[in-house]
Amino acid sequence: MGVYELIRRGLFRFGGGDAEVAHHRTTAILAKAGPLLAPVRRYFSVDAPVEAFGLRFPNPVGLAAGMDKDGIALNAWPALGFGFVEVGTVTARPQPGNPKPRLFRLVGSEAVINRMGFNNAGAEALAARLATHRRTVPLGISLGKSKVVPVEEAVEDYRTSLRALYPYGDYFAINVSSPNTPGLRGLQDRKALSELLAELSLESRAMAEKDRGRPRPLLVKIAPDLSDDAVGEVLEVCEEHGISGIIATNTTLSRDGLAPGDQHLAAEAGGLSGRPLTQRALEVVSFVHKHTSLPVIGVGGILDVADAARMFDAGASLVQIYTGFIYRGPGLVRRISRHRRDSPGRRD
Ligand code: FNR
Repeated sequence: MGVYELIRRGLFRFGGGDAEVAHHRTTAILAKAGPLLAPVRRYFSVDAPVEAFGLRFPNPVGLAAGMDKDGIALNAWPALGFGFVEVGTVTARPQPGNPKPRLFRLVGSEAVINRMGFNNAGAEALAARLATHRRTVPLGISLGKSKVVPVEEAVEDYRTSLRALYPYGDYFAINVSSPNTPGLRGLQDRKALSELLAELSLESRAMAEKDRGRPRPLLVKIAPDLSDDAVGEVLEVCEEHGISGIIATNTTLSRDGLAPGDQHLAAEAGGLSGRPLTQRALEVVSFVHKHTSLPVIGVGGILDVADAARMFDAGASLVQIYTGFIYRGPGLVRRISRHRRDSPGRRD
């Protein structure tokens, strides 16, 4: 048994096995790790630099959105080997998210189902925290819609968050693909997406002019449950509005690929991540890469080096990990970066 497997046994028992309690306790420990992080960093950090959408990343493995929504353990993630971090999804208004329980581990399937519903302290609170943080790796900020705001007023809600957080993000991820906020995924439809991206690009340019910088890259995160035609439409709209990249994919509503021992959790509402998502996420990344020249961040079901290698081969410039980090720990991040450094692979 590996070292992380032993640690994982302990972590999974935190809070009597309640996955959300384990998550909070683990991030709280990481947030307080302070000087202990230096030796951790020496072991886990790997230099495998890559450039994408005008940013330089020390390595191509990022922490996916949702793990550290409020940015409480920002010094820990780079020490654990991540080459970039995406905080959020944050909303303009603070909100508690859905009633608990809302996070389920499906261990036999190496998967998670979550219906967190963007529990977060709000854009202003995140801005205040980021104002005191010194970034050592690129920081992405994922933006979503506040639950109480009607979908027709979504644009204003995203804009409020973008404005509050603009100085602190190296890129912004426009999340229109989480399954746990009613109506959110409808923002992937052509008309709604076009309106949203037009306004946010405008806002980004206006903010950039104010501090005489270049507009920050805006990326769009898409769902794995879209048809090819729908992804094609999203790509057209993104190109029309000068979007800098695509993040593919968010969690899925599908329940295919669950182990027999996890079938009793299949009916839990929410998005499924991890191993059952690997193949579909790869297909979406491949489709996006074939149909545009926009850089892609590949995310979904990366649990080992081979999964990551396939994502890069499919055209991803960068990858992100969430569920793989829970099941395999920071060693996975290190192994992927080292593999990438030692065999950069062929890019079209
Ligand atoms: C997520 N994910 C997510 N994505 C996002 O854009 N905003 C968010 O707030 C969250 N929240 C969140 C919470 C939990 C508990 C999980 C498991 C996932 C989705 C995540 O970033 C990623 O896209 C998917 O989980 C697929 O990648 P993995 O987990 O298979 O590596």
